[in-house]
Amino acid sequence: MAPQFEMKVSDLIAEDIEAYLHQHQHKSLLRFLTCGSVDDGKSTLIGRLLYDSKMIFEDQLAALEADSKKVGTQGGDIDFALLVDGLSAEREQGITIDVAYRFFSTDKRKFIVADTPGHEQYTRNMVTGASTADAAIILIDARKGVLTQTRRHSYLVSLLGIRHVVLAINKMDLVEFSQARFDEILADYRAFAAQIGITEFTAIPMSALKGENITEPSSKMSWYDGPPLLRWLEEAPVEDDLQARPFRMPVQWVNRPDLDFRGFSGLVASGVIRPGDRIKALPSGRESTVARIVTKGGDLPEAVAGLSVTLTLNDEIDISRGDVIALASQPPEVADQFETTIVWFDDEPLLPGRPYLMKLGARTVTAQVAEPKYKVNVNTLEKLAATRLELNEIGVCNLSLSAPIAFDPYVDNKDLGGFILIDRLSNRTIGAGMLHFALRRSQNIHWQAMDVDKAARASAMGHKGRVIWFTGLSGSGKSTIANLLEKRLHAEGRHTYVLDGDNVRHGLNRDLGFTDADRVENIRRVAEVSRLMVDAGLIVLVSFISPFRAERQLARERVEAGEFVEVFVDTPLAEAEKRDVKGLYAKARAGELKNFTGIDSPYEAPESPEIRIDTTAMTPEDAAEMIYGWLDAN
Ligand code: ADX
Repeated sequence: MAPQFEMKVSDLIAEDIEAYLHQHQHKSLLRFLTCGSVDDGKSTLIGRLLYDSKMIFEDQLAALEADSKKVGTQGGDIDFALLVDGLSAEREQGITIDVAYRFFSTDKRKFIVADTPGHEQYTRNMVTGASTADAAIILIDARKGVLTQTRRHSYLVSLLGIRHVVLAINKMDLVEFSQARFDEILADYRAFAAQIGITEFTAIPMSALKGENITEPSSKMSWYDGPPLLRWLEEAPVEDDLQARPFRMPVQWVNRPDLDFRGFSGLVASGVIRPGDRIKALPSGRESTVARIVTKGGDLPEAVAGLSVTLTLNDEIDISRGDVIALASQPPEVADQFETTIVWFDDEPLLPGRPYLMKLGARTVTAQVAEPKYKVNVNTLEKLAATRLELNEIGVCNLSLSAPIAFDPYVDNKDLGGFILIDRLSNRTIGAGMLHFALRRSQNIHWQAMDVDKAARASAMGHKGRVIWFTGLSGSGKSTIANLLEKRLHAEGRHTYVLDGDNVRHGLNRDLGFTDADRVENIRRVAEVSRLMVDAGLIVLVSFISPFRAERQLARERVEAGEFVEVFVDTPLAEAEKRDVKGLYAKARAGELKNFTGIDSPYEAPESPEIRIDTTAMTPEDAAEMIYGWLDAN
């Protein structure tokens, strides 16, 4: 090492700012997560690390010393918790995620700490903070030992595939620095950790408050011969063997400034690539070889995990944004159905069957989640039966996608196996998950091509198939209008069929009730049936309340553009209730019927239906005639 690097950082800055910056730039970066609550001494620990590594700005330090004297919980000593809690003010303003990232650095390494609240209701924040972490510190109060929250934090750390774990047994000063107490907690934890697959971890006895075993080995615990925390953090292996893994680069964008240049840009997620290497683009499976590795600073002889580059290829093959470029000899799998673990983030529950967007790598596709196989009680690790997932719940569910994607199991590659789920209407991130493996059924079921196709059937019918989708409140007049329209079409020799909510619920959907989840499944099935009927060449009239936009959108997307005609039978609640043909509104008002649409179950009116019928201004006969006219004209 050059002598100047052995100087104190402050001298170095005075001496040679360039050298300092160089040294700083080339230090490795460790991202870690702290799990625990304020009670465990988490704020104190982070404050201590920041303080000891001198990363607190002078003015913050002056304020801290003043505050510590004022508040005085530590009798004139500096109260590190005040520092961290003070910094938390910024977090309170960040509305989207409640994770604070802090930066500090020592001579050897740079660090980013994700400080996540530890309570049960913050599972989501822990997942957010942990998604890029290399290591985790699980805090334990030596007086209390292994608690429910320790188990919860450990489970999440293991679930998220964080391989480097410190069990920080803190507040040793309050148990007389007792080795016996330390050994007892360690044995306890080891037994539990084995159950969840944490086989390797480092237990460090410490006192964050007193600075014991934080930066220097503690003289009060000479029985402990492991590293103090900071040394462990400085020496923990970073990003493992990402470079040793198979090459993967999700394509962020296709770089095509002019006709002569066509490059594929993205961040290398794992492995190494060099010009001349044979690659495979996925999901297409097309192959070529790398021509150049282009960066702003010039061409590179190789690109490794963590670098953002643009690759050019020797052949003109079709690659688009979201595809994955891999080494041809070690390609990832391609599939459209998976077993996954999902962590649910949203106040609205996950509804099986509802279409969501899934983003994995640079790819976004539509995804439907099947009913959970089970959910996990994060406190007891029990597996529980579930029909949906609520906020902060974790479940194992099958997932099916609208198109195949290239992936790796999450345990092998977080970038190609970790995903987020997004609400299609609000664009909110509503969950995160990990792919376990592709379902074999998706590889063993192939589309069977038939010689008589949709066009042939349409020609035999004398017209194309279509879906006329009636939506509106119960008693709005959907079925009455659908019935009149069918009669009219039938009289003209058209081939029709009416799918009516009440009727289909006598057979195919007999097992479903009126919870949100059941309505989602009700409409999903009807969307699939109407798609089959359109394929058969029928004009299908669907008359279901279909209260949710997301499922009506799904039904629309199951057929081709122009084949779906949404008819909003717009009858105000008061009017439908006044008519109350089936007496159901009266029952619902009397509390005898739960989850009744418009009363205690929502109805989301269409925003831009093809046709809107105002039943207060038009008879059912006129409405049927109007729709007939519209169909004729279109
Ligand atoms: S949907 O919401 O899932 O689309 P669907 O159209 O199949 O509903 O069924 C609605 C019919 O079921 C209503 O016309 C009404 O006759 C009957 N029904 C019974 N209970 C309810 C309820 N809780 N909410 C709405 N409709 C109900």
